[in-house]
Amino acid sequence: MSAAKIVHVVGTGTIGEPLIGLLSTQKKKLGIDEVTFHKKTPLLSDRSKINVMIEQGAKFVCDADKKEEFLKLGYHAPSYSTLDALEQATVVIDCTPTGVGHENKQKYYEKFKHNTLGFIAQGSEFGFGKMYAKGSNDEALDREKDQFIQVVSCNTHNLGILLKTLGSDAHGVINNVQEARFVLMRRANDVSQDKSFLPAPQAGTHEDERFGTHHARDAYHLFKTLGVELNLYSSAIKLNTQYMHSLWFNLRLKKPITKDEVVQRLVEHPLVSVTHKRAANLIFSFGRDHGYFGRILTQTVASLPTIEVIHGGKEITGFCFTPQDGNSLLSTISATLWFMYPNDYEERLSVFKRYCFQEI
Ligand SMILES: NC(=O)c1ccc[n+]([C@@H]2O[C@H](COP(=O)([O-])OP(=O)(O)OC[C@H]3O[C@@H](n4cnc5c(N)ncnc54)[C@H](OP(=O)(O)O)[C@@H]3O)[C@@H](O)[C@H]2O)c1
Repeated sequence: MSAAKIVHVVGTGTIGEPLIGLLSTQKKKLGIDEVTFHKKTPLLSDRSKINVMIEQGAKFVCDADKKEEFLKLGYHAPSYSTLDALEQATVVIDCTPTGVGHENKQKYYEKFKHNTLGFIAQGSEFGFGKMYAKGSNDEALDREKDQFIQVVSCNTHNLGILLKTLGSDAHGVINNVQEARFVLMRRANDVSQDKSFLPAPQAGTHEDERFGTHHARDAYHLFKTLGVELNLYSSAIKLNTQYMHSLWFNLRLKKPITKDEVVQRLVEHPLVSVTHKRAANLIFSFGRDHGYFGRILTQTVASLPTIEVIHGGKEITGFCFTPQDGNSLLSTISATLWFMYPNDYEERLSVFKRYCFQEI
């Protein structure tokens, strides 16, 4: 590990691309000396985005045996090889697709444990490390034990912040959730992706006997890091839209709550956006116009007109929207800073506060 603070991102896809942009444009304020990124496949069509990343100050890294191919396609010369970049990195952030983060952990990261402060993987890498979502379980992060962190999926962030905000006591302890049910209405794909679009809604199966889909399973494990075990179940359906994921929720509580208190809790939470809108396209469009790289960085966007408290105050139901991947991006940067600046990481993260819109 170099004496400088170097953050290395592996993967330049849907999550990697904006992450590299956020880190390199804000690196001074965040206290990062250098941002490096690894691109695996030499593709002419990706050259433009790599050029922009380099212009923003990030350093391009590729496997030594791919260097010639990248150069032939007119890419800038890489600044480091894969192994050199890992050798000098302070924190490594893996943004690769399902299973690759685990492969990279075995193949590379375990070998650089002695000189790297931390490794972070994304939503698909269940079991990579301590599960984390900003605002849901910050207090579970342990400096002595946690060198590997898995930032949970964007939708799991949404479940997490609802449970924490509406199911906790005044001290933030989640002790008022009897059970909770969720229906995730997922966009077919991201606007940056051209595969997997759907002609019509497609219902998902309930592959997990206990939790339904991975979303409730992941939220269960997220709160288990705090010693809390919740009764959760989720279903998912993919919609033929590229806008935001939408979420229907139903929380059954042990002790009643009033609608005024529910609204107050949502309105006052710094990582929750509220809106009087009910259409995903309008919220998405707000993010495109006012967000950072088009992203809203809160954990959820709660649609106030849809929220009701029923059954004598013991049930809260309503709709909210998952702010694209903005919540995963904020948690990833938070975990990165937690590794590097244990004492003031929250303060450094406040550079993104203005993109955590309270109202949309
Ligand atoms: N998409 C979202 O909205 C979203 C939201 C939250 C969390 N996540 C999570 O973020 C992670 C990445 O998802 P994504 O949607 O960003 O994926 P993606 O768009 O498919 O991008 C994956 C990237 O990983 C690279 N890659 C693939 N195999 C690799 C390997 N063996 N070694 C090094 N790099 C490799 C690819 O590089 P090349 O292109 O150069 O081959 C590509 O840049 C997943 O865990 C996902 O669950 C995604």
